[in-house]
Amino acid sequence: MHNKIKELLQFGTVGAKVAIKGWIRTKRINKQVVFLTINDGSCQQHLQVVMTPSELPKELLNQLVTGASVAVSGCLVASKGTKQSVELHGDHLTLLGSAPDYPLQPKPHSLEFLRTWMHLRFRTNTFGAVFRIRHAISYAIHHFFHERGFCYLHTPIITAADAEGAGELFRVTSLDAAHPPKNPDGSIDFRADFFNTATNLTVSGQLAAEAAAMGLGAVYTFGPTFRAENSNTSRHLAEFWMVEPEVAFNNLDDTIALAEGLLKSLSADLLKTCPEELDFLNQRLQGHKNEADKTPSMDLLERLQFVLEQPFARITYTEAIAILMEAASNKNGTFAYPVTGWGIDLQSEHERYLVEQHFKRPIVVTDYPKDIKAFYMRQNDDGKTVAAMDILFPGVGEIIGGSQREERIDYLKQAMQRAHIEDLNWYLDTRRFGTIPHSGFGLGLDRFVLFVTGMENIRDVIPFPRTPGHVAC
Ligand code: 4AD
Ligand code: MG
Repeated sequence: MHNKIKELLQFGTVGAKVAIKGWIRTKRINKQVVFLTINDGSCQQHLQVVMTPSELPKELLNQLVTGASVAVSGCLVASKGTKQSVELHGDHLTLLGSAPDYPLQPKPHSLEFLRTWMHLRFRTNTFGAVFRIRHAISYAIHHFFHERGFCYLHTPIITAADAEGAGELFRVTSLDAAHPPKNPDGSIDFRADFFNTATNLTVSGQLAAEAAAMGLGAVYTFGPTFRAENSNTSRHLAEFWMVEPEVAFNNLDDTIALAEGLLKSLSADLLKTCPEELDFLNQRLQGHKNEADKTPSMDLLERLQFVLEQPFARITYTEAIAILMEAASNKNGTFAYPVTGWGIDLQSEHERYLVEQHFKRPIVVTDYPKDIKAFYMRQNDDGKTVAAMDILFPGVGEIIGGSQREERIDYLKQAMQRAHIEDLNWYLDTRRFGTIPHSGFGLGLDRFVLFVTGMENIRDVIPFPRTPGHVAC
Protein backbone atom coordinates (compact mmCIF):
# COMPACT_ATOMS: atom_id res chain seq x y z
CA MET A 1 0.00 0.00 0.00
CA HIS A 2 1.15 3.52 -0.70
CA ASN A 3 -0.15 6.91 0.41
CA LYS A 4 -1.88 9.50 -1.76
CA ILE A 5 0.02 12.77 -1.89
CA LYS A 6 -3.21 14.71 -1.37
CA GLU A 7 -3.76 12.99 1.96
CA LEU A 8 -0.17 13.43 3.09
CA LEU A 9 -0.27 17.15 2.36
CA GLN A 10 -3.59 17.56 4.16
CA PHE A 11 -3.33 15.19 7.09
CA GLY A 12 0.25 13.82 7.17
CA THR A 13 1.90 13.96 10.58
CA VAL A 14 5.54 14.86 10.96
CA GLY A 15 7.57 11.75 11.81
CA ALA A 16 5.22 9.29 10.07
CA LYS A 17 6.68 6.53 7.87
CA VAL A 18 5.05 6.80 4.46
CA ALA A 19 5.37 5.52 0.89
CA ILE A 20 4.35 7.27 -2.33
CA LYS A 21 4.26 6.47 -6.04
CA GLY A 22 4.16 9.04 -8.82
CA TRP A 23 5.93 10.86 -11.63
CA ILE A 24 8.91 13.16 -11.31
CA ARG A 25 8.09 16.73 -12.28
CA THR A 26 11.42 18.37 -11.43
CA LYS A 27 14.87 17.42 -10.12
CA ARG A 28 17.46 19.66 -8.50
CA ILE A 29 20.73 18.23 -7.34
CA ASN A 30 23.87 19.35 -5.58
CA LYS A 31 26.62 17.46 -3.72
CA GLN A 32 24.64 16.99 -0.52
CA VAL A 33 21.04 16.61 -1.61
CA VAL A 34 18.76 15.73 -4.48
CA PHE A 35 15.33 17.36 -4.50
CA LEU A 36 12.58 15.70 -6.50
CA THR A 37 9.04 17.04 -6.85
CA ILE A 38 6.57 14.21 -7.34
CA ASN A 39 2.97 14.35 -8.51
CA ASP A 40 0.61 11.38 -8.37
CA GLY A 41 -2.50 13.02 -9.86
CA SER A 42 -4.41 13.09 -6.57
CA CYS A 43 -4.11 16.86 -6.27
CA GLN A 44 -2.68 20.00 -7.76
CA GLN A 45 0.36 20.12 -5.49
CA HIS A 46 3.56 18.09 -5.73
CA LEU A 47 5.31 16.48 -2.79
CA GLN A 48 8.94 17.38 -2.37
CA VAL A 49 11.23 14.39 -1.83
CA VAL A 50 14.70 14.94 -0.39
CA MET A 51 17.42 12.27 -0.72
CA THR A 52 21.16 11.98 -0.28
CA PRO A 53 22.81 11.50 -3.70
CA SER A 54 25.66 9.43 -2.31
CA GLU A 55 23.14 6.79 -1.22
CA LEU A 56 21.82 6.34 -4.76
CA PRO A 57 23.74 4.45 -7.49
CA LYS A 58 24.98 6.89 -10.15
CA GLU A 59 23.13 5.11 -12.94
CA LEU A 60 19.85 5.37 -11.05
CA LEU A 61 20.51 9.02 -10.25
CA ASN A 62 20.90 9.77 -13.96
CA GLN A 63 17.56 8.14 -14.70
CA LEU A 64 15.69 10.35 -12.25
CA VAL A 65 14.41 12.80 -14.85
CA THR A 66 11.15 14.64 -15.51
CA GLY A 67 8.52 12.10 -16.58
CA ALA A 68 10.07 9.04 -14.92
CA SER A 69 7.92 7.12 -12.45
CA VAL A 70 9.17 6.23 -8.98
CA ALA A 71 8.18 4.69 -5.67
CA VAL A 72 9.67 6.36 -2.59
CA SER A 73 9.39 5.50 1.08
CA GLY A 74 10.71 7.43 4.03
CA CYS A 75 9.78 9.82 6.77
CA LEU A 76 7.58 12.93 6.63
CA VAL A 77 9.34 16.00 8.01
CA ALA A 78 8.28 19.61 8.42
CA SER A 79 9.14 21.48 5.26
CA LYS A 80 11.55 24.38 5.43
CA GLY A 81 10.09 25.86 2.28
CA THR A 82 6.96 27.98 2.44
CA LYS A 83 5.08 26.17 -0.33
CA GLN A 84 3.95 23.18 1.69
CA SER A 85 3.78 21.97 5.25
CA VAL A 86 5.61 18.64 4.88
CA GLU A 87 8.17 16.97 2.68
CA LEU A 88 9.41 13.41 2.41
CA HIS A 89 12.93 12.47 3.46
CA GLY A 90 13.31 9.36 1.34
CA ASP A 91 15.35 6.41 2.50
CA HIS A 92 14.34 4.08 -0.29
CA LEU A 93 13.66 4.86 -3.96
CA THR A 94 12.72 2.48 -6.78
CA LEU A 95 12.62 3.55 -10.40
CA LEU A 96 9.36 2.18 -11.85
CA GLY A 97 9.70 3.50 -15.40
CA SER A 98 12.49 5.55 -16.94
CA ALA A 99 11.66 8.38 -19.38
CA PRO A 100 14.55 9.11 -21.72
CA ASP A 101 13.74 11.98 -24.12
CA TYR A 102 10.46 12.77 -22.36
CA PRO A 103 8.95 15.56 -24.49
CA LEU A 104 7.32 17.66 -21.74
CA GLN A 105 9.86 19.71 -19.87
CA PRO A 106 9.10 21.47 -16.57
CA LYS A 107 8.39 24.81 -18.21
CA PRO A 108 5.20 26.31 -19.64
CA HIS A 109 4.28 24.69 -22.96
CA SER A 110 1.69 26.16 -25.29
CA LEU A 111 -1.69 24.42 -25.36
CA GLU A 112 -1.24 23.87 -29.10
CA PHE A 113 2.02 22.03 -28.44
CA LEU A 114 0.37 19.93 -25.73
CA ARG A 115 -2.39 18.96 -28.17
CA THR A 116 0.30 17.16 -30.17
CA TRP A 117 1.05 15.13 -27.02
CA MET A 118 -2.56 14.60 -25.98
CA HIS A 119 -1.83 11.25 -24.33
CA LEU A 120 0.82 12.85 -22.08
CA ARG A 121 -0.85 16.16 -21.25
CA PHE A 122 -2.67 14.60 -18.27
CA ARG A 123 0.70 14.89 -16.54
CA THR A 124 0.75 18.69 -16.62
CA ASN A 125 -0.54 21.05 -13.94
CA THR A 126 -3.04 22.65 -16.30
CA PHE A 127 -4.66 19.44 -17.51
CA GLY A 128 -4.57 17.87 -14.06
CA ALA A 129 -6.66 20.84 -12.88
CA VAL A 130 -9.03 20.74 -15.87
CA PHE A 131 -9.80 17.04 -15.57
CA ARG A 132 -10.21 17.04 -11.80
CA ILE A 133 -12.68 19.92 -12.27
CA ARG A 134 -14.47 18.03 -15.06
CA HIS A 135 -14.84 15.08 -12.72
CA ALA A 136 -16.10 17.25 -9.84
CA ILE A 137 -18.75 18.83 -12.07
CA SER A 138 -19.92 15.44 -13.39
CA TYR A 139 -20.26 14.14 -9.86
CA ALA A 140 -22.12 17.28 -8.78
CA ILE A 141 -24.55 16.93 -11.70
CA HIS A 142 -25.57 13.45 -10.58
CA HIS A 143 -25.84 14.68 -7.01
CA PHE A 144 -28.05 17.64 -8.03
CA PHE A 145 -30.57 15.48 -9.88
CA HIS A 146 -30.50 12.60 -7.44
CA GLU A 147 -31.28 14.96 -4.56
CA ARG A 148 -34.31 16.26 -6.45
CA GLY A 149 -35.76 12.82 -7.16
CA PHE A 150 -34.74 12.51 -10.83
CA CYS A 151 -34.10 9.10 -12.37
CA TYR A 152 -30.83 8.75 -14.34
CA LEU A 153 -31.82 7.34 -17.72
CA HIS A 154 -29.39 5.58 -20.07
CA THR A 155 -30.66 6.54 -23.51
CA PRO A 156 -29.34 4.65 -26.55
CA ILE A 157 -26.20 5.67 -28.38
CA ILE A 158 -27.19 3.86 -31.57
CA THR A 159 -30.55 5.11 -32.79
CA ALA A 160 -32.72 5.31 -35.88
CA ALA A 161 -33.92 8.83 -34.99
CA ASP A 162 -32.53 12.28 -35.77
CA ALA A 163 -33.80 13.93 -32.60
CA GLU A 164 -32.84 17.44 -33.67
CA GLY A 165 -33.95 16.99 -37.27
CA ALA A 166 -30.80 18.76 -38.44
CA GLY A 167 -29.35 15.87 -40.44
CA GLU A 168 -25.91 16.08 -38.80
CA LEU A 169 -25.62 12.33 -38.35
CA PHE A 170 -22.78 9.85 -38.07
CA ARG A 171 -24.03 6.73 -39.83
CA VAL A 172 -23.70 3.41 -37.98
CA THR A 173 -23.57 0.45 -40.36
CA SER A 174 -22.17 -3.03 -40.76
CA LEU A 175 -22.63 -2.97 -44.54
CA ASP A 176 -19.58 -3.47 -46.74
CA ALA A 177 -18.57 0.11 -47.54
CA ALA A 178 -17.10 -0.94 -50.90
CA HIS A 179 -20.15 -2.94 -52.08
CA PRO A 180 -23.32 -1.86 -50.22
CA PRO A 181 -26.59 -3.39 -51.42
CA LYS A 182 -28.51 -0.94 -53.58
CA ASN A 183 -32.15 -0.09 -54.25
CA PRO A 184 -33.28 0.04 -57.88
CA ASP A 185 -32.83 3.85 -57.78
CA GLY A 186 -29.16 3.47 -56.82
CA SER A 187 -29.53 4.51 -53.14
CA ILE A 188 -28.19 2.20 -50.41
CA ASP A 189 -30.66 -0.45 -49.25
CA PHE A 190 -30.43 -0.18 -45.45
CA ARG A 191 -33.00 -2.95 -45.03
CA ALA A 192 -30.04 -5.29 -45.50
CA ASP A 193 -28.11 -3.54 -42.69
CA PHE A 194 -27.62 -4.87 -39.16
CA PHE A 195 -30.81 -3.34 -37.75
CA ASN A 196 -32.78 -3.70 -41.01
CA THR A 197 -32.90 0.08 -41.17
CA ALA A 198 -30.55 3.07 -41.34
CA THR A 199 -29.05 3.98 -37.95
CA ASN A 200 -26.79 6.68 -36.57
CA LEU A 201 -25.05 7.79 -33.38
CA THR A 202 -27.35 9.84 -31.16
CA VAL A 203 -27.48 13.63 -31.51
CA SER A 204 -29.59 13.91 -28.33
CA GLY A 205 -31.29 11.57 -25.87
CA GLN A 206 -34.27 13.90 -25.61
CA LEU A 207 -36.97 11.95 -27.45
CA ALA A 208 -36.26 8.84 -25.37
CA ALA A 209 -36.12 10.99 -22.23
CA GLU A 210 -39.55 12.47 -23.07
CA ALA A 211 -41.05 8.97 -23.29
CA ALA A 212 -39.46 8.06 -19.94
CA ALA A 213 -40.54 11.30 -18.22
CA MET A 214 -44.12 10.47 -19.15
CA GLY A 215 -43.99 7.53 -16.76
CA LEU A 216 -41.15 8.25 -14.37
CA GLY A 217 -41.99 11.94 -13.94
CA ALA A 218 -38.50 13.44 -13.87
CA VAL A 219 -35.51 11.93 -15.62
CA TYR A 220 -32.11 13.03 -16.89
CA THR A 221 -29.62 11.64 -19.35
CA PHE A 222 -25.89 12.28 -19.18
CA GLY A 223 -23.84 10.84 -21.97
CA PRO A 224 -21.83 11.24 -25.14
CA THR A 225 -23.52 12.96 -28.04
CA PHE A 226 -22.38 12.98 -31.66
CA ARG A 227 -22.83 15.59 -34.35
CA ALA A 228 -21.30 15.57 -37.80
CA GLU A 229 -21.56 19.35 -38.14
CA ASN A 230 -18.60 20.80 -39.94
CA SER A 231 -18.00 23.53 -37.35
CA ASN A 232 -14.31 23.92 -36.78
CA THR A 233 -14.65 26.40 -33.92
CA SER A 234 -13.33 26.64 -30.38
CA ARG A 235 -16.86 25.78 -29.08
CA HIS A 236 -17.76 22.68 -31.13
CA LEU A 237 -16.86 19.02 -30.79
CA ALA A 238 -18.05 16.15 -32.97
CA GLU A 239 -18.32 14.06 -29.77
CA PHE A 240 -19.40 15.99 -26.69
CA TRP A 241 -21.20 15.27 -23.43
CA MET A 242 -24.69 16.50 -22.78
CA VAL A 243 -26.92 16.48 -19.69
CA GLU A 244 -30.62 16.43 -20.57
CA PRO A 245 -33.27 16.64 -17.84
CA GLU A 246 -36.89 16.15 -18.89
CA VAL A 247 -39.77 16.83 -16.51
CA ALA A 248 -43.45 15.97 -16.76
CA PHE A 249 -45.85 18.88 -16.10
CA ASN A 250 -43.07 21.53 -16.27
CA ASN A 251 -43.66 24.60 -18.41
CA LEU A 252 -41.02 26.89 -19.93
CA ASP A 253 -40.66 28.98 -16.75
CA ASP A 254 -40.16 25.85 -14.65
CA THR A 255 -37.46 24.56 -16.96
CA ILE A 256 -35.65 27.92 -16.95
CA ALA A 257 -35.74 27.89 -13.14
CA LEU A 258 -34.36 24.34 -13.09
CA ALA A 259 -31.56 25.28 -15.50
CA GLU A 260 -30.59 28.41 -13.57
CA GLY A 261 -30.69 26.42 -10.32
CA LEU A 262 -28.41 23.75 -11.81
CA LEU A 263 -25.81 26.22 -13.10
CA LYS A 264 -25.76 28.05 -9.77
CA SER A 265 -25.55 24.89 -7.73
CA LEU A 266 -22.66 23.54 -9.84
CA SER A 267 -20.79 26.83 -9.48
CA ALA A 268 -21.27 26.87 -5.71
CA ASP A 269 -20.12 23.24 -5.40
CA LEU A 270 -17.01 23.86 -7.42
CA LEU A 271 -15.87 26.72 -5.22
CA LYS A 272 -15.98 24.23 -2.34
CA THR A 273 -14.56 21.11 -4.02
CA CYS A 274 -11.80 22.45 -6.28
CA PRO A 275 -10.29 25.60 -4.69
CA GLU A 276 -6.69 24.64 -5.52
CA GLU A 277 -7.47 23.79 -9.13
CA LEU A 278 -9.42 27.04 -9.61
CA ASP A 279 -6.65 29.00 -7.97
CA PHE A 280 -4.06 27.45 -10.26
CA LEU A 281 -6.12 28.09 -13.43
CA ASN A 282 -6.88 31.59 -12.25
CA GLN A 283 -3.18 32.41 -11.94
CA ARG A 284 -2.63 30.92 -15.38
CA LEU A 285 -5.37 33.11 -16.81
CA GLN A 286 -4.05 36.24 -15.10
CA GLY A 287 -0.57 35.52 -16.48
CA HIS A 288 -1.98 35.28 -19.98
CA LYS A 289 -3.99 38.43 -19.52
CA ASN A 290 -0.89 40.42 -18.73
CA GLU A 291 0.79 39.06 -21.85
CA ALA A 292 -1.95 39.61 -24.38
CA ASP A 293 -4.67 41.48 -22.48
CA LYS A 294 -7.43 39.89 -24.52
CA THR A 295 -8.87 37.39 -22.05
CA PRO A 296 -12.09 38.15 -20.14
CA SER A 297 -11.63 40.79 -17.51
CA MET A 298 -13.03 38.90 -14.53
CA ASP A 299 -10.94 36.34 -12.76
CA LEU A 300 -12.23 32.80 -12.44
CA LEU A 301 -13.48 33.03 -8.88
CA GLU A 302 -15.22 36.31 -9.63
CA ARG A 303 -16.91 34.70 -12.62
CA LEU A 304 -18.26 31.83 -10.53
CA GLN A 305 -19.41 34.21 -7.80
CA PHE A 306 -21.04 36.31 -10.47
CA VAL A 307 -23.02 33.35 -11.85
CA LEU A 308 -24.00 32.51 -8.32
CA GLU A 309 -25.13 35.92 -7.17
CA GLN A 310 -26.74 37.61 -10.19
CA PRO A 311 -30.18 36.57 -11.36
CA PHE A 312 -29.85 35.77 -15.06
CA ALA A 313 -31.30 38.44 -17.35
CA ARG A 314 -34.31 37.29 -19.37
CA ILE A 315 -35.32 38.60 -22.80
CA THR A 316 -37.27 37.36 -25.78
CA TYR A 317 -35.67 36.69 -29.13
CA THR A 318 -37.63 39.65 -30.51
CA GLU A 319 -36.11 41.95 -27.87
CA ALA A 320 -32.65 40.51 -28.59
CA ILE A 321 -32.99 41.34 -32.28
CA ALA A 322 -34.03 44.91 -31.44
CA ILE A 323 -30.95 45.35 -29.22
CA LEU A 324 -28.65 43.87 -31.86
CA MET A 325 -30.09 46.01 -34.67
CA GLU A 326 -29.22 49.09 -32.62
CA ALA A 327 -25.76 47.83 -31.58
CA ALA A 328 -22.83 49.92 -32.77
CA SER A 329 -21.12 46.73 -33.96
CA ASN A 330 -24.05 46.11 -36.28
CA LYS A 331 -24.30 49.67 -37.53
CA ASN A 332 -20.58 50.03 -38.23
CA GLY A 333 -20.28 46.62 -39.86
CA THR A 334 -18.09 44.93 -37.20
CA PHE A 335 -20.31 41.85 -37.06
CA ALA A 336 -19.26 39.21 -39.58
CA TYR A 337 -22.98 38.33 -39.88
CA PRO A 338 -25.01 41.56 -40.04
CA VAL A 339 -28.29 41.51 -38.10
CA THR A 340 -30.78 42.26 -40.84
CA GLY A 341 -34.04 41.70 -38.97
CA TRP A 342 -36.45 39.35 -37.25
CA GLY A 343 -36.07 35.69 -38.26
CA ILE A 344 -32.29 35.38 -38.53
CA ASP A 345 -30.47 32.77 -36.44
CA LEU A 346 -28.28 34.27 -33.71
CA GLN A 347 -24.59 33.73 -34.40
CA SER A 348 -22.08 33.28 -31.63
CA GLU A 349 -20.79 36.86 -32.11
CA HIS A 350 -24.35 38.14 -31.51
CA GLU A 351 -24.79 35.98 -28.42
CA ARG A 352 -21.51 37.19 -27.01
CA TYR A 353 -22.36 40.81 -27.71
CA LEU A 354 -25.60 40.46 -25.75
CA VAL A 355 -23.92 38.74 -22.79
CA GLU A 356 -20.55 40.44 -22.61
CA GLN A 357 -21.29 43.95 -23.78
CA HIS A 358 -24.98 44.66 -23.37
CA PHE A 359 -26.20 42.78 -20.28
CA LYS A 360 -22.81 41.86 -18.78
CA ARG A 361 -24.23 38.73 -17.18
CA PRO A 362 -25.70 35.36 -18.19
CA ILE A 363 -28.94 35.74 -20.12
CA VAL A 364 -31.90 33.58 -21.03
CA VAL A 365 -33.33 34.22 -24.49
CA THR A 366 -36.85 32.87 -25.06
CA ASP A 367 -39.49 32.55 -27.77
CA TYR A 368 -37.47 32.06 -30.94
CA PRO A 369 -39.03 31.95 -34.43
CA LYS A 370 -40.32 28.44 -35.03
CA ASP A 371 -38.55 28.22 -38.39
CA ILE A 372 -35.08 28.27 -36.84
CA LYS A 373 -35.82 25.82 -34.00
CA ALA A 374 -36.41 22.06 -33.70
CA PHE A 375 -39.76 20.45 -34.58
CA TYR A 376 -40.59 19.32 -31.03
CA MET A 377 -40.84 22.79 -29.47
CA ARG A 378 -44.26 24.04 -28.40
CA GLN A 379 -45.80 26.60 -30.70
CA ASN A 380 -46.80 29.89 -29.03
CA ASP A 381 -50.20 31.48 -29.58
CA ASP A 382 -48.73 34.03 -32.02
CA GLY A 383 -48.24 31.16 -34.51
CA LYS A 384 -44.72 32.45 -35.28
CA THR A 385 -42.61 31.61 -32.25
CA VAL A 386 -41.99 28.59 -30.03
CA ALA A 387 -41.56 28.19 -26.25
CA ALA A 388 -37.79 27.79 -26.56
CA MET A 389 -35.02 29.05 -24.33
CA ASP A 390 -31.25 29.33 -24.75
CA ILE A 391 -28.94 30.29 -21.89
CA LEU A 392 -25.96 32.34 -22.99
CA PHE A 393 -22.76 32.65 -20.94
CA PRO A 394 -19.83 35.06 -21.12
CA GLY A 395 -16.90 33.74 -23.13
CA VAL A 396 -18.86 30.73 -24.34
CA GLY A 397 -22.17 31.82 -25.86
CA GLU A 398 -24.90 29.16 -25.79
CA ILE A 399 -24.39 26.78 -22.90
CA ILE A 400 -27.96 25.44 -22.60
CA GLY A 401 -30.74 24.92 -25.14
CA GLY A 402 -34.20 23.81 -24.09
CA SER A 403 -37.93 24.21 -24.52
CA GLN A 404 -41.42 23.31 -23.55
CA ARG A 405 -42.41 20.41 -25.79
CA GLU A 406 -45.35 20.34 -28.20
CA GLU A 407 -47.84 18.11 -26.41
CA ARG A 408 -50.72 18.67 -28.89
CA ILE A 409 -50.56 15.90 -31.45
CA ASP A 410 -51.98 17.92 -34.36
CA TYR A 411 -49.43 20.71 -33.97
CA LEU A 412 -46.65 18.15 -33.55
CA LYS A 413 -47.65 16.29 -36.71
CA GLN A 414 -47.67 19.55 -38.68
CA ALA A 415 -44.25 20.52 -37.37
CA MET A 416 -42.89 17.08 -38.27
CA GLN A 417 -44.29 17.37 -41.74
CA ARG A 418 -42.66 20.78 -42.20
CA ALA A 419 -39.34 19.28 -41.08
CA HIS A 420 -39.79 16.17 -43.29
CA ILE A 421 -39.61 13.84 -40.30
CA GLU A 422 -41.11 10.38 -40.72
CA ASP A 423 -40.80 7.10 -38.84
CA LEU A 424 -41.42 8.58 -35.40
CA ASN A 425 -44.71 6.85 -34.78
CA TRP A 426 -43.56 5.67 -31.35
CA TYR A 427 -42.90 9.30 -30.39
CA LEU A 428 -46.40 10.31 -31.49
CA ASP A 429 -47.77 7.56 -29.22
CA THR A 430 -46.56 9.58 -26.23
CA ARG A 431 -49.03 12.28 -27.36
CA ARG A 432 -51.75 9.77 -28.27
CA PHE A 433 -51.84 8.20 -24.83
CA GLY A 434 -52.14 10.54 -21.86
CA THR A 435 -50.30 13.54 -23.29
CA ILE A 436 -49.17 16.25 -20.85
CA PRO A 437 -47.25 19.51 -20.86
CA HIS A 438 -43.57 18.78 -20.28
CA SER A 439 -40.22 20.51 -20.71
CA GLY A 440 -36.51 19.96 -20.62
CA PHE A 441 -33.14 21.23 -21.72
CA GLY A 442 -29.65 20.16 -22.70
CA LEU A 443 -26.52 21.45 -20.97
CA GLY A 444 -23.26 21.07 -22.90
CA LEU A 445 -20.91 19.74 -20.22
CA ASP A 446 -17.80 20.62 -22.20
CA ARG A 447 -18.94 24.21 -22.63
CA PHE A 448 -19.61 24.54 -18.90
CA VAL A 449 -16.14 23.17 -18.14
CA LEU A 450 -14.76 25.68 -20.66
CA PHE A 451 -16.46 28.50 -18.78
CA VAL A 452 -15.33 27.53 -15.28
CA THR A 453 -11.74 26.67 -16.20
CA GLY A 454 -11.18 29.79 -18.31
CA MET A 455 -9.67 27.63 -21.06
CA GLU A 456 -10.20 29.09 -24.50
CA ASN A 457 -10.64 26.04 -26.69
CA ILE A 458 -13.11 23.21 -26.11
CA ARG A 459 -10.41 20.78 -27.34
CA ASP A 460 -8.60 21.47 -24.06
CA VAL A 461 -11.40 20.40 -21.70
CA ILE A 462 -12.11 16.89 -23.03
CA PRO A 463 -9.48 14.13 -22.82
CA PHE A 464 -9.37 13.13 -26.48
CA PRO A 465 -11.28 15.63 -28.64
CA ARG A 466 -12.95 14.64 -31.90
CA THR A 467 -13.24 17.50 -34.38
CA PRO A 468 -13.45 17.66 -38.18
CA GLY A 469 -10.29 16.04 -39.52
CA HIS A 470 -8.98 15.03 -36.09
CA VAL A 471 -9.35 11.83 -34.10
CA ALA A 472 -6.07 11.43 -32.24
CA CYS A 473 -5.85 8.34 -29.98
O1 4AD B 1 -29.25 23.26 -28.24
P1 4AD B 1 -29.01 21.80 -28.45
O2 4AD B 1 -28.79 21.33 -29.84
O3 4AD B 1 -30.28 21.10 -27.78
C1 4AD B 1 -30.58 19.78 -27.84
O4 4AD B 1 -29.88 18.91 -28.30
C2 4AD B 1 -31.87 19.46 -27.14
N1 4AD B 1 -32.30 18.12 -27.56
C3 4AD B 1 -31.67 19.55 -25.65
C4 4AD B 1 -32.93 19.28 -24.89
O5 4AD B 1 -33.81 20.11 -24.89
N2 4AD B 1 -33.01 18.12 -24.24
O6 4AD B 1 -27.78 21.34 -27.55
C5 4AD B 1 -27.77 21.57 -26.16
C6 4AD B 1 -26.41 22.07 -25.70
C7 4AD B 1 -25.98 23.38 -26.35
O7 4AD B 1 -26.54 24.47 -25.67
C8 4AD B 1 -24.47 23.30 -26.18
O8 4AD B 1 -24.09 23.67 -24.87
C9 4AD B 1 -24.19 21.82 -26.35
O9 4AD B 1 -25.39 21.13 -26.09
N3 4AD B 1 -23.73 21.53 -27.72
C10 4AD B 1 -22.44 21.30 -28.05
N4 4AD B 1 -21.32 21.27 -27.31
C11 4AD B 1 -20.16 21.00 -27.94
N5 4AD B 1 -20.06 20.73 -29.26
C12 4AD B 1 -21.17 20.73 -30.05
N6 4AD B 1 -21.08 20.44 -31.35
C13 4AD B 1 -22.43 21.03 -29.44
N7 4AD B 1 -23.71 21.11 -29.90
C14 4AD B 1 -24.48 21.41 -28.84
MG1 MG C 1 -29.17 24.99 -29.35
